[in-house]
Amino acid sequence: MSLATELHTAEPLLEVDNLQVKFATPDGFVTAVNNLNFALAQGETLGIVGESGSGKSQTAFALMGLLANNGIIEGEARFEGRNILSLNEKAMNRIRSKDIAMIFQDPMTSLNPYMKVGKQLMEVLMLHKGMSKADAFEASVHMLDAVKMPEARKRMNMYPHEFSGGMRQRVMIAMALLCQPKLLIADEPTTALDVTVQAQILTLLNELKDDFNTSIIMITHDLGVVAGLCDKVLVMYAGRTMEYGSAEDVFYRPTHPYTQGLLNAIPRLDNEGSVLATIPGNPPNLLNLPSGCPFEARCEFAKERCVNIAPSLETFASGQMSACHKTTEGWA
Ligand SMILES: Nc1ncnc2c1ncn2[C@@H]1O[C@H](COP(=O)(O)OP(=O)(O)OP(=O)(O)O)[C@@H](O)[C@H]1O
Ligand SMILES: [Mg+2]
Repeated sequence: MSLATELHTAEPLLEVDNLQVKFATPDGFVTAVNNLNFALAQGETLGIVGESGSGKSQTAFALMGLLANNGIIEGEARFEGRNILSLNEKAMNRIRSKDIAMIFQDPMTSLNPYMKVGKQLMEVLMLHKGMSKADAFEASVHMLDAVKMPEARKRMNMYPHEFSGGMRQRVMIAMALLCQPKLLIADEPTTALDVTVQAQILTLLNELKDDFNTSIIMITHDLGVVAGLCDKVLVMYAGRTMEYGSAEDVFYRPTHPYTQGLLNAIPRLDNEGSVLATIPGNPPNLLNLPSGCPFEARCEFAKERCVNIAPSLETFASGQMSACHKTTEGWA
């Protein structure tokens, strides 16, 4: 099978076609997500990577049916063949509780601070799985054990503020996996954590992915985070796909100057002491996107055609895709 076919798996769990998210604001339309395409098979992990404001969270919210009221969606997202973007609230609620779960950027926004953690976990099972209180208690302890929560049984009786940030994130992962979803969307699940805890959570996600065969969309601004976890990587900038390919290709053979910039910005142990490269400048204003390549103003290779013509996403022989005139035209 060619990589191109692998990237668009024959029977994907999730297939996103030309997803567009716009927000109506008093100043005009903000285009947060611009014609995104990707596919994910059962058990596969996709990393969506990009700087702050590139549209990663809005992509996730669109898929979960959780966009703000001023959001407008176009395109399709077929989950097991069914377009979930056109479902009503009731049908979407059913999918959210049993098929697709999300871990949010800030765990405190999704845990109730006034309710014991055990009760919050048990409620999910009692509501969505119809479990008895006693069964829900045991299943919750079991899930806390699965996410390697020390003294799980004792912690059922504690409030969220009594947990450390890393432990709260484990609770969120446990809660998301309780109903054994087919797809888990993890939005920056480790950003607020120190590097040691971050590594533990990533190892945990890796193990859970194997144990439960869950597909994962891992959203992060840090390419380093997706390295050991993801099968495929989509690099996003100003709402668009800059590069999309197997994790190996994107890491070892990045074709887009933006991906190359992100990779150079990852701290590495083997170049200790050298200055960490950053990408100069800022992303464009989403209210007024440039007509050419959105990365042009920050790209050291940019030529006149980059200012005027937006590069389309081209597929290379390996299946890797890139939206860059330099890459497709082979400039030196
Ligand atoms: N309700 C809204 N109205 C107008 N613009 C919005 C709204 N919600 C989000 N946006 C804009 O959409 C853009 C993309 O936001 P998004 O939250 O997806 O970024 P992100 O890639 O997740 O960034 P971060 O890494 O900081 O979480 C941002 O410029 C944001 O200001
Ligand atoms: Mg975000």
